[in-house]
Amino acid sequence: MVTRRSLLSGTIAATGAGLLTTGGLTPLLSTRSAQATAPAPAPSGTKPVTVPPPFTVRMPLTPVLAPISTLGGQDTYAVTIKEVAREILPGAQTKVLTYDGHFPGPVLRARSGRKVVIRHRNTLTMPVSVHLHGGNVSPENDGGPMDTFAPNTSRTYTYPNQQDGAGLWFHDHAHHMESEHVFRGLSATYLLSDDTDRSLPLPAGQYEVPIALRDARFDESGQLVYVMDDVFGRTTVLANGRPSPYFEVAARKYRFRLLNSSNMRFFQLRLADGGPLTQIGTDGGLLERPFTTDTVGLSPAERADVIIDFSRYPVGTKIVLENTLGPGTPDQVGKVLRFDVVRTAPDPSRIPGHLRTLPALRPATVQRNIVLSMDEDGRQEPRGFMDGQVWDYQRIDQTVAHGSSEIWTVTNTNKLAPHNFHMHLVQFRVLERNGAPAGPAESGPKDTVRLFPGESVKLHATFDTYRGTYVYHCHLLDHSAMGMMANFRIR
Ligand code: C2O
Ligand code: CU
Ligand code: CU
Repeated sequence: MVTRRSLLSGTIAATGAGLLTTGGLTPLLSTRSAQATAPAPAPSGTKPVTVPPPFTVRMPLTPVLAPISTLGGQDTYAVTIKEVAREILPGAQTKVLTYDGHFPGPVLRARSGRKVVIRHRNTLTMPVSVHLHGGNVSPENDGGPMDTFAPNTSRTYTYPNQQDGAGLWFHDHAHHMESEHVFRGLSATYLLSDDTDRSLPLPAGQYEVPIALRDARFDESGQLVYVMDDVFGRTTVLANGRPSPYFEVAARKYRFRLLNSSNMRFFQLRLADGGPLTQIGTDGGLLERPFTTDTVGLSPAERADVIIDFSRYPVGTKIVLENTLGPGTPDQVGKVLRFDVVRTAPDPSRIPGHLRTLPALRPATVQRNIVLSMDEDGRQEPRGFMDGQVWDYQRIDQTVAHGSSEIWTVTNTNKLAPHNFHMHLVQFRVLERNGAPAGPAESGPKDTVRLFPGESVKLHATFDTYRGTYVYHCHLLDHSAMGMMANFRIR
């Protein structure tokens, strides 16, 4: 069996090799994937399960969670966290950990200003913690790493939804287990809409499609293989839980709510013909104005709200959404999904030139510097650090005055390893990236920001809602599990 020790020693130095460097795009790797350890053989006598050729399975829509009650001015949900078997690769039943049996994770549709209460029952053999990523919630409802609930117990989380509409998500956060739990399926979409969003003539209903992208690794019996820091082994790309699927669309505009739910994979997406995509939102909701681009980058946990207008393609066109970043070969990880334009449809939707007005930033009174790093000297058992320290749940690393605004300059000092930076509770603004103004994709409220080796970002955050202790961490979940996490306390 591959131990964490043996795998880690070889991977760190190569981690950044297929990724963007500060210098520019590096093409997908073609040789490194050979380093992945061989999968376990299928039980004798059975035919090994293989990843099908791309675009042979249909992309499912994410199932919508139904409330058990909408009384009392709130929506109440009851979710069972359970292990089930689902078809991911054709012909195989893969054991996955799920919210209510759904893989891909379901979508919960919430409205700003209307409370959501979810009771989760844990039927697994491990403790879990459910975190609403991007949510403005009290510390007791945040689902922190140590605030777990045991097997055969339940826990109720209350989400006031006192924040703007945004594509949020919830996922497991039980410390040292979050990485494996999320990999095995404990992740779900939480679409919060507000009046502004709903008043805009954007594509809606069946033309608004949540898509969760991630990578995975399977053995020859079709079971998920989790190995800590498995940078090179996770070479199957899943869109809504299926490998490089196709999705039938009408020749009109669609709004795609993209989420990168991978543990560690960065995606750089483009349409195969280089055609335009219009990005209208990011982690914390709509941008002030849309912009047109030919590529969308998503580090783990980042979201993008993107419109594609298929009316420019004749019916019968098949257009591939590609990923141009490794690790992995273009054959393995380069083909994310294919849009098949199969019919025409009326399109009353429009993309307004102005989407919303963001509040002015308050003057910041405190500046902090945060350094992300991990051992990359080839040692066994590398550790991840925030400011040179491994996470200690009892240590308060930053104390913030309630009501204040601050500027945090966050730097990845590694030479090879990419990271990103996520804060609980707040949506921040990206003021600068590497000393230059942030680009349009980072011009709206964000809760997660990518940091390729050597990169630095300057963030502005206002801490005027809850008091208490929350975490900030690298959202490459294998890294946060290695200690790249810290506590901040608002008082
Ligand atoms: Cu997705 Cu601690 O977060
Ligand atoms: Cu979070
Ligand atoms: Cu990291």
